[in-house]
Amino acid sequence: MCIFPFPHFPRKLSFTCHYAMSLLKRRKIRAFTVLFCIVTFTMFLFSYTLHDPSLYFFKYPFRLPDSFFSKGQCGCQQCMTELDDDPWFTERFNLSVHPLLTRRNSLLTDDTYRWWQWLQAEQQPANFSEVVEKLFQVIPDADLYMDAGPERCRTCAVVGNSGNLKGTRYGTLIDSNDVIIRMNQAPTSGYEEDVGSRTTHHVMYPESAIDLDNTTSLLLIPFKTLDLQWIISALTTGSIQHTYIPVQSRIKANRDRVLIYSPTFFKYVYDTWLENHGRYPSTGFLSLLFAIHICDTVSVYGFGSDHYGNWHHYWEENNMGGAFRHTGVHDGDYEYNITLLLADKHKIKMFKGR
Ligand code: C5P
Repeated sequence: MCIFPFPHFPRKLSFTCHYAMSLLKRRKIRAFTVLFCIVTFTMFLFSYTLHDPSLYFFKYPFRLPDSFFSKGQCGCQQCMTELDDDPWFTERFNLSVHPLLTRRNSLLTDDTYRWWQWLQAEQQPANFSEVVEKLFQVIPDADLYMDAGPERCRTCAVVGNSGNLKGTRYGTLIDSNDVIIRMNQAPTSGYEEDVGSRTTHHVMYPESAIDLDNTTSLLLIPFKTLDLQWIISALTTGSIQHTYIPVQSRIKANRDRVLIYSPTFFKYVYDTWLENHGRYPSTGFLSLLFAIHICDTVSVYGFGSDHYGNWHHYWEENNMGGAFRHTGVHDGDYEYNITLLLADKHKIKMFKGR
């Protein structure tokens, strides 16, 4: 409202004042609205391009040069490695250590072999090189995932087993990734809405093994030479039924898709990323580092406790997973803090769950 301070002035002048003020006000509102829209849109665009590379909408329709979005080395909006990378990350990230065992990298240093054999204190292990040779007569020996480059944009989801996945409805988001990594006993059937239904890689060790479908890659984490003998046996004769506990003697899996986690990489994760916290890294942390090495973007689901502080599994009702945090085998808190730090540095995207 225009408060005209001189009541004795003619009415016409008062009317002109009113008109001028309302025009000014409308212009101000319009200018403010335009400014607001620009700021909102810019923030929206940047928060997505920086934090959610899976939203291709911004990437493909405009075909902006990659350099617009990323200073990185891949075809995504943000890449695992960037030209002006974070020093904490570059000090640790070593692409020359390959996550998968092949014949070529199977010669372990004495230090690595000794550490690896110590993990489960195997008594009288078989000859490692001979077992490896037999192994690669049963499963393929290939240098996989070495195709990083400016054209590649491989999006990955690492799905941990935390009960915090319950009720999240992350299923569709998880399934939209190129690579979906699950682990141990994790089921999808009956939990699709929260955890998704696709699995490209299932990480396990003999004592946590489950059957897989024909399209999923089985990624075995060996903790001892017997574990390599077990996978040979489980895919062929079924003769090994016991490690330190009874294990599945046979496993349903496509033997052309069986991969072995490299003991050298295993030790690199423990030394470099965990700085020797815990006795050895958990399946979840090993899977995360596998993803960080083979993917361009990594989204993490189902890690950590739920909002009550429970460390159970999403398929369990109670707090059975409590053991995970307190066994002393893994340093769950340290692992979780490193995971949060990676998220903080935009190397991974954490979906915290409920
Ligand atoms: O319990 P399990 O070892 O099968 O879980 C697989 C991984 O999921 C763990 O290694 C851990 O990284 C993650 N996890 C978690 N919080 C839980 C349960 C599992 O972070 N409550």
